[in-house]
Amino acid sequence: MSADQSPLGQIPVEDLNEAQAVDELARLAAAIAENDAAYHQNDAPKISDADYDALKKRNDALEKRYPQLIRADSPSIRVGAAPLATFAPITHARPMLSLDNTFSDEDVRDFVGSVYRFLGQLPDNSIAFTAEPKIDGLSMSIRYEHGRLVNAATRGDGTTGENVTENIKTIKDIPQRLPAGVPDIVEVRGEVYMAKSDFLALNAEMEAQGKQLYVNPRNTAAGSLRQLDARVTASRNLKFFAYAWGEISEPNDLPKTQFEMVQVFKSWGFPVNPLMKRLSSVEEIIAHYTEIGLERPDLDYDIDGVVYKVDRLDLQARLGFRSRSPRWATAHKFPAEQAFTTVENIDIQVGRTGALTPVARLTPITVGGVVVTNATLHNADYIEGIGNSGERIREEGHDIRIGDTVIVQRAGDVIPQVLDVVMEKRSPEAKPYEFPTKCPVCGSHAVREKNEKTGKLDSVTRCTGGFVCRAQAIEHLKHFVSRNAFDIEGLGSKQIDFFFEAEEASLQIRTAPDIFTLKKRQEASPLVKLENIDGFGRVSVRKLFDAIDGRRSIALNRFIYALGIRHVGETTAKLLARAYGSYQAFETAMKEASSLSGDAWADLNNIEGIGEIVARAIVEFFKEPRNIEVIDRLIAEVTPEAAEQVAASDSPIAGKTVVFTGSLEKFTRDEAKARAEGLGAKVAGSVSKKTDYVVAGPGAGSKLDKARELGVTVMDEDEWLVFIGG
Ligand code: IVH
Repeated sequence: MSADQSPLGQIPVEDLNEAQAVDELARLAAAIAENDAAYHQNDAPKISDADYDALKKRNDALEKRYPQLIRADSPSIRVGAAPLATFAPITHARPMLSLDNTFSDEDVRDFVGSVYRFLGQLPDNSIAFTAEPKIDGLSMSIRYEHGRLVNAATRGDGTTGENVTENIKTIKDIPQRLPAGVPDIVEVRGEVYMAKSDFLALNAEMEAQGKQLYVNPRNTAAGSLRQLDARVTASRNLKFFAYAWGEISEPNDLPKTQFEMVQVFKSWGFPVNPLMKRLSSVEEIIAHYTEIGLERPDLDYDIDGVVYKVDRLDLQARLGFRSRSPRWATAHKFPAEQAFTTVENIDIQVGRTGALTPVARLTPITVGGVVVTNATLHNADYIEGIGNSGERIREEGHDIRIGDTVIVQRAGDVIPQVLDVVMEKRSPEAKPYEFPTKCPVCGSHAVREKNEKTGKLDSVTRCTGGFVCRAQAIEHLKHFVSRNAFDIEGLGSKQIDFFFEAEEASLQIRTAPDIFTLKKRQEASPLVKLENIDGFGRVSVRKLFDAIDGRRSIALNRFIYALGIRHVGETTAKLLARAYGSYQAFETAMKEASSLSGDAWADLNNIEGIGEIVARAIVEFFKEPRNIEVIDRLIAEVTPEAAEQVAASDSPIAGKTVVFTGSLEKFTRDEAKARAEGLGAKVAGSVSKKTDYVVAGPGAGSKLDKARELGVTVMDEDEWLVFIGG
């Protein structure tokens, strides 16, 4: 049935009275549902897309006119009847990256300069940039196939996000169909956000009902989207701005610039930000930043900066990506928000690696809409007013004392900082803070290590207790089960505290392998049953054991990350997994590298993205017999899955090690390196037996000699270009 076949369907929305609207909404709901079923279940649409859209539009207009009549089964809400059990993962067809931050005009100049340097040889002001607000919401990738919305995923870790399709479908700003003629596959990316006005209205309602208030629009938007019951999302009126894209099947039919692409999204029905401009000089860019900053309070959405992107897509492609962010874009952040409060106390927290971190306990204060009660004080120097390079920090380099009135600042999601001390308010009794020389948890000596290279004292004071320090052991375990490591549901921070402190052997978890033997120990000990302990119960115990068993096989990069090796974060863990392929190969190589010399050590250092400090930390970790003993017990319970060594690619240089030497003429060195890495090669700084190819330009010296000596294939730049396919 189409809109015009029914007598009611003939009447303009403005002329329908309330009683007619009730009937018309029912008719539209039925018609749309019928067509949805025809399309989705039977793959046989009964009406044209245009007629379908007309029905939807009419329904939306009527709902807008009579919001009190919105039906529970309204097609604008369009959700499955039952709430979902959990969000399924979706692997992004193209990774969703984050942005580098810039904070000052100087940084912006550096960013623009780095683009010119990377591309080489382009006249000043010849590269255009787009500048647009950085929306403080959640990024989303929405995939359309043959013009229809098929799924939507959050950013997640950039590689895999959560499938929030049903929730996204409730957002009116987001079209469910694209106009005819769009490419078969289109992934539109952008930001889901909650308008400030909607946030205030929601909080007014919460207040009226005596319920707890929401903290800020961003968190509320995130919470609203991560609802398993999409009807809740639907009630929150989330909004969207499109500003980027992922996979597109026929990109050649589309414009060649960022600016025009966004205009195309607009023509497809997506909201795009009206403040986006295309500019060339650094001065123009900064002027636009200032202008957006001035408009910020009047915008109905939160923004936390301005994003600059190279406009030409071919230049974007040449610039490519670093591990987490594109070289062709940056976020120029607005200065952080600030407030005054007092330092009530200074506590010391002991972390996983033994670092003693001082934390200021503050009189609670609202900064930019968020209540702040703690601020990190980083280390002893920071409290004293000394920065990482020995410089004085804060306005006059004042130290921080208990009882001081301080200015606290919060920028985005960053942990609040103490910006400065208000000296006029300092009491004469306030004494300088004495940093502990003993670990407050285990009493071991706490020391500042000397940097071997510079001979300077490290800024971090570290507990020397190692495994005897309960704080380090507990933090290790918490890291092990954390979201990006083993991610064991039901085993969070609270539970780790409980199992760690448990007196009964059949309940104790002191090291990671204990997690995997817990069930066996429980079964062997009929007297002390976890399910009889407060907070556990039969079902949750079964679920916990299932969750633990579910992790007996785990991706190698997660396994490596979970080990908690100093300086080995997620990115480094991925690099290691990719370089070594299996856990055994990794451990063997790290043991071989223990003398900090030889091939294994050189290979480790040759991994792009791993510097000497990280390499040393990894080797040190494997020298500690206690670590090996724990890992051996862990490997008896858990199998790290073999990783694909180096990105699968049909390029001739995938998995090969390349060295560039001499001057290059067609590319800058950075660009050549990025290209090679993009094709799956490792780019090394020095020539060794492991080098596969040396690309030598004019002026190549000792590296070229060494390559010849070792019989490594040498090419010039042109041969190289032909070899890698232009
Ligand atoms: S572009 C590859 N443009 O900022 C670059 N991001 O800090 C893709 N964001 O994850 C991002 N407004 O959630 C871009 N106008 C804008 C943005 C924006 C907000 C968010 C986005 C991203 C984060 C990075």
